[in-house]
Amino acid sequence: MPTTEQAVPRSELRWSLVVGGFVAVILAATLYAALALHRNPPSNLERIDPKTLHLSGEFTEPNLGTRVENGQVVTRIVTTQFAFVPRCIVVPEGRPVTLRLSSPDVIHGIIVTGTNVNTMVVPGYVSQVHTEFRTLGTLLMPCQEFCGLGHSQMLAHVEVVPADQFHPDAQGRVDCAAPQ
Ligand code: CUA
Repeated sequence: MPTTEQAVPRSELRWSLVVGGFVAVILAATLYAALALHRNPPSNLERIDPKTLHLSGEFTEPNLGTRVENGQVVTRIVTTQFAFVPRCIVVPEGRPVTLRLSSPDVIHGIIVTGTNVNTMVVPGYVSQVHTEFRTLGTLLMPCQEFCGLGHSQMLAHVEVVPADQFHPDAQGRVDCAAPQ
């Protein structure tokens, strides 16, 4: 029937407009989030040898945790099967904080509840997140990437303290009062 034959291209055109419209809306939302709201996936590309990161350099044990370096708050964490080192970190409220993470074994992930901190930690790379904590108190930081049998027990805490109670020691370090 001729009416059916004409209906087919018309229907196809309609659907391609609908789909094209959806794609345009999603693309616009993605661009808006990236350019106007600065919501981007972590894009730091920095390599590190997972076999030696605990032996020398930035991620040796005395360097882990929170430290103030030239006025900038930097927290270093090693994610490992099945623990965060350290298990508790202190950060000041309302100040820019840089989190730097690395893994000596498998892929882990961190997420800090109620914040925009959410990144994977891939062996061989340093994951870096810039953020500002806006809620006071103790926040949970679980591993968010299945990393083996102990994954569900892999958990750390973030203590967000008022900026005027954030007191670095002589080395610029701030540690949890009672490490958990
Ligand atoms: Cu580490 Cu899951």
